[in-house]
Amino acid sequence: MTYGSERVDSEPVKSWITDWDWLDDGWGENAIDIWNDVREQCPVASTERYGRAFMPVTMEAVRQIANDTDNFSSIWVGVARPDAPRHPAPPITSDPPNHHGHRRLILPAFNPKAVASIEPEMRAFCRKLIADIGDSPTADAAEQYSQHIPVHGICIITGLPEEDADLFRDWIYRSFQLAPKDNAVRHQVAVEMTEYIDALLKDRLKNPKDDLLTVVANAQIDGQDVDWMVKVGYIRLQIVAGIDTTWSAIGSGLWHFAQHNDEVQRLIAVPNDHDLWSEATEEVLRYYAPVTMARKVVKDVTVSGCPMHAGDQTLVTFPAANHDPNEFERADEFILDRKNNRHVAFGLGIHRCAGSNLARLEMIVAFQEWLRAFPNYSLDPSTKVTWANGQVRGPRILPVLTNP
Ligand code: HEM
Repeated sequence: MTYGSERVDSEPVKSWITDWDWLDDGWGENAIDIWNDVREQCPVASTERYGRAFMPVTMEAVRQIANDTDNFSSIWVGVARPDAPRHPAPPITSDPPNHHGHRRLILPAFNPKAVASIEPEMRAFCRKLIADIGDSPTADAAEQYSQHIPVHGICIITGLPEEDADLFRDWIYRSFQLAPKDNAVRHQVAVEMTEYIDALLKDRLKNPKDDLLTVVANAQIDGQDVDWMVKVGYIRLQIVAGIDTTWSAIGSGLWHFAQHNDEVQRLIAVPNDHDLWSEATEEVLRYYAPVTMARKVVKDVTVSGCPMHAGDQTLVTFPAANHDPNEFERADEFILDRKNNRHVAFGLGIHRCAGSNLARLEMIVAFQEWLRAFPNYSLDPSTKVTWANGQVRGPRILPVLTNP
């Protein structure tokens, strides 16, 4: 099939209540303010740009959708043109009863023990990135630091070749920034990724290694071989779920700390195993949660008084729920040592993030190494910070003064 170049309306948003668009230029930097404004007026916003699609902004609405796999399907996990070609990337794109088998297959690679074992390597990698910046008075904390860290982690665990990092980042950019509005881009990215992953999996059949690619190449569920395109989908998911997510979370944290040196000083005064480091990491995850998912509405249903119909799409706006004042005390304050932080940055329900141990390790190590190396760094006022819009939100250009 060929896909034409008809695109979704890219006019600026007229109203965030009735015309929201996660690819609007205003989204990346201002999303938290947008969700807070919407929440003061109604719990669920809508748009007609991608067919009908909803945007819930309260914890109650987000929880209802994430926990209800009868009415909301994961076959569509991103809001896009309704006629967009969709490709399986299980477990994230699968529903019960199939979801469980897919998830069980990939989960061991990300268990706490497997992840903890790569900490020394991740720390050495962060130190090398910092050494490369050296004595330079300026640096880009996104391009020279945060974007590289999750690629290193995912490549160690999966066996994907790290020298192809630019290719992965290009696929991610096109998938999230362009494809929701343009089916031709979505199709082309899928073709390129399938061809690439297919070759790697075939190689692992002949040359097995101790990595997730080998596990996936030979995958069986209940004694049956898994369909080859589903295997390709498992690896596609590792690339699109395991890289820009953590890259965005690290970048958002570094953007925040660049403007709050008092917090940097509190952190670097305590040892790396002090609770303050994990509390601060959880608060970065709550406040700057990067990942917004979506579902296809498969039966007529009402969410917080808002009727949704089969065939509609809805966001599962986990980052907006993290700012709901009914759920968090002083929700709009970043509290470095917040206790009982029950944020939903990693989602909730059966699809809760499979890579959360890895993401947390990468974040904490990245913060410890950067803040100790550059304890007085600040934003560089001469160069603009730019943010990724849409499904995975975070700084992509983050210019800083390393020692102002
Ligand atoms: C800070 C970084 C990360 C955040 C905020 C994040 C967030 C999320 C969220 C919100 C979901 C739920 C999806 C849904 O409900 O539809 C999810 C699922 C998932 N994430 Fe992450 N993620 C991060 C890092 C990672 C990493 C490093 C990996 C490793 C590959 C990963 C792999 C997955 C997988 C495989 C799923 C699907 C689980 C399932 O469907 O059962 N994530 N993630």
